[in-house]
Amino acid sequence: MAVNENTRLPNKHSLYLAKSGYGKTQTLRRRSGIPERGARVVLWDNNKDHEAHRFNRLSDFFRALAAANRSGKGFRIAYTGEAAPHLFELWAQGVWSILDGNRLTYCLIEEYSDCCRGPGILDYSKEKYHRRLWTQGRKYGGVIHTTSQRPQLISKDSLGNAGEIWAGRMDTSAAERVGKEIDTPWREIMACNVGEFFHKTEKETQKEQVFTPI
Ligand SMILES: Nc1ncnc2c1ncn2[C@@H]1O[C@H](COP(=O)(O)OP(=O)(O)OP(=O)(O)O)[C@@H](O)[C@H]1O
Ligand SMILES: [Mg+2]
Repeated sequence: MAVNENTRLPNKHSLYLAKSGYGKTQTLRRRSGIPERGARVVLWDNNKDHEAHRFNRLSDFFRALAAANRSGKGFRIAYTGEAAPHLFELWAQGVWSILDGNRLTYCLIEEYSDCCRGPGILDYSKEKYHRRLWTQGRKYGGVIHTTSQRPQLISKDSLGNAGEIWAGRMDTSAAERVGKEIDTPWREIMACNVGEFFHKTEKETQKEQVFTPI
């Protein structure tokens, strides 16, 4: 169970949204603010985009996560097996069990649309822990950083609860949905080049050149 609730923790949940190859993973690496050393990082990383101790089976991942949590030190532990909403619910339950309001736990989720049954509100009866990560994780030190190529398919809980959104090049239906959330015309989102993102914070939305592609 998540322990030590702390309602004063800020909302740092972040979404990185753009079509393939437009710089979500690069932006997450450069701008997520996850410390290089000593941080508690738990990953859902089916394409092995990030360095971590990797586990293809959830049972092995859970064992490693529990041991890492007991150690009291930082860790980077990734589930790299198959992606599906019912598997993500199990992953979320495992993550919920180690959250602690006295210590931040970064939850890094690649291609979040694979974890969602659809774009609506998460169904509490089927996706209790998935929903809890978005709605209550902040108070227990959870900081979610997640990417998606298909933001038209991701849960309403994620778009509604993200403190920050990075929106790069995407197609019309995706740009329409995200444009409403970040108060930016969809045509401007569709015109972003690789490395260019609209960055929405609690205060404002600004266009930024996050990196120049090599
Ligand atoms: N170290 C780097 N510095 C600058 N540009 C880079 C670097 N590594 C990759 N790129 C460029 O960034 C682009 C790919 O970015 P990235 O891998 O972040 O995309 P993505 O949005 O995560 O795609 P996908 O959804 O397929 O994972 C490519 O155009 C590549 O040339
Ligand atoms: Mg990527």
